[in-house]
Amino acid sequence: MATAVDRPIDQIDLGEMSLWANGPPHALFDRLRAEAPIHWSPMADWDGEPGFWSITRADDVHTVSRDWEAFSSEKGGVLITDLATPVEVQNATFIGMDPPRHDRIKALFQRAFTPNRIAEHEQTIRQITVEGLDRLEGRDELDLATELAQPVVGRVIGTLFGLPAEDDAAWAELATRGFAIGDEELQPGGNESAQEIIGEVFTRASAVVAERRANPTDDLTSLLVHGEIDGDSLTDDEIVFGFGLLVAAGNDSTKSTFTNGMLALLNEPEQRQKLLDDPSLIPAAVEEFLRMYPAFAHFRRTATRDYQLRGTTIRKGDKVVMWYTASNRDPEAFECPHMLDVERNAEHQAFGGGGRHFCLGTALARLELKLLFEETLARFPQMELVEQPESVRSLFINQPRAVPVKLGPSAG
Ligand code: HEM
Repeated sequence: MATAVDRPIDQIDLGEMSLWANGPPHALFDRLRAEAPIHWSPMADWDGEPGFWSITRADDVHTVSRDWEAFSSEKGGVLITDLATPVEVQNATFIGMDPPRHDRIKALFQRAFTPNRIAEHEQTIRQITVEGLDRLEGRDELDLATELAQPVVGRVIGTLFGLPAEDDAAWAELATRGFAIGDEELQPGGNESAQEIIGEVFTRASAVVAERRANPTDDLTSLLVHGEIDGDSLTDDEIVFGFGLLVAAGNDSTKSTFTNGMLALLNEPEQRQKLLDDPSLIPAAVEEFLRMYPAFAHFRRTATRDYQLRGTTIRKGDKVVMWYTASNRDPEAFECPHMLDVERNAEHQAFGGGGRHFCLGTALARLELKLLFEETLARFPQMELVEQPESVRSLFINQPRAVPVKLGPSAG
């Protein structure tokens, strides 16, 4: 039987979960970019879910991202499936809005997320990272995902939003499970599981927001609750879902990039040695991990009119999915795109293809990742991988299920 990679291109359906068994189907994306850069998948296995166009070349992701009038984030959802996270829920956060609503709300957050404002948290984030590593001292084997990345990233977000530390693990788990579209282990009931998780995020977020309304502080939750744009405050839904989006996006994304990056370094010792010899290369290495392993495989738009892209007609109302996992390995944009080169330092699309929805958390994610890699590599320079992990099998999140390691001697 022909494997998916050998099938005629018009018989490829990227909604088929078996294609994602080992993470993103890179060999298939190579074919799509070359043979059908604007490609239709019917999503046949997803009951009642319409099909979608796949965009796989970096130039085209850039075009779709920037043209918000033709490719809306509001007319449909921003995820490949509307059934998992209802469009009304997505529309209540600025990620699911078009200008001018989007721009007004994003501006409120942007103030707290500029590189300068984020740099003010460097000491706190380093401290959280060091404490995360301190807790591992004396251990032999452990999982970097749940025992280092998740607690550190969760505490960073928890601190910025003024959340109690005992809730970090619950928020992190909700984020990973909520985003794991298609994964049978993390979302065993498919879209129903996703909706349950969103319900729980909503309940928890509502409680935090109500508490902060009564007791204002100077954290980011208070900024949301009490923020005003041109004299208007946000609606309750905008606050609660905005909070849920930030806490969820902030937890899962950085964890993915750190675990994928560590896994790559453990598999390629000469690349790790470069960073051990010269830690000033770490910011460039972070960009390379973001390029090769974008935390989110895609975001989606909906065409607002008929649109010609590379000779293909996208019809008004069609779903258009930008695969960063593919565009970040476009050979027209990157030499030897599948090769890890910690010194490459290339511009990539892990944070989106540019335009209005460019990731709000860019500066925070970069800083957290730099500190996590710096401190982890310095503390456990002889760490070894115990076994190759499985990937989460998801159309949206891109991460190993675990990264089991032997820590080796501590240098610190
Ligand atoms: C490795 C880390 C991260 C990656 C790869 C990432 C990726 C992305 C991408 C691709 C988008 C574009 C969505 C679109 O075009 O529709 C986005 C948007 C967004 N991200 Fe991130 N993200 C990361 C970290 C974070 C963090 C730490 C936060 C917050 C604490 C965050 C909050 C957001 C928000 C609020 C948006 C919506 C922006 C808008 O619609 O204008 N992200 N992110």
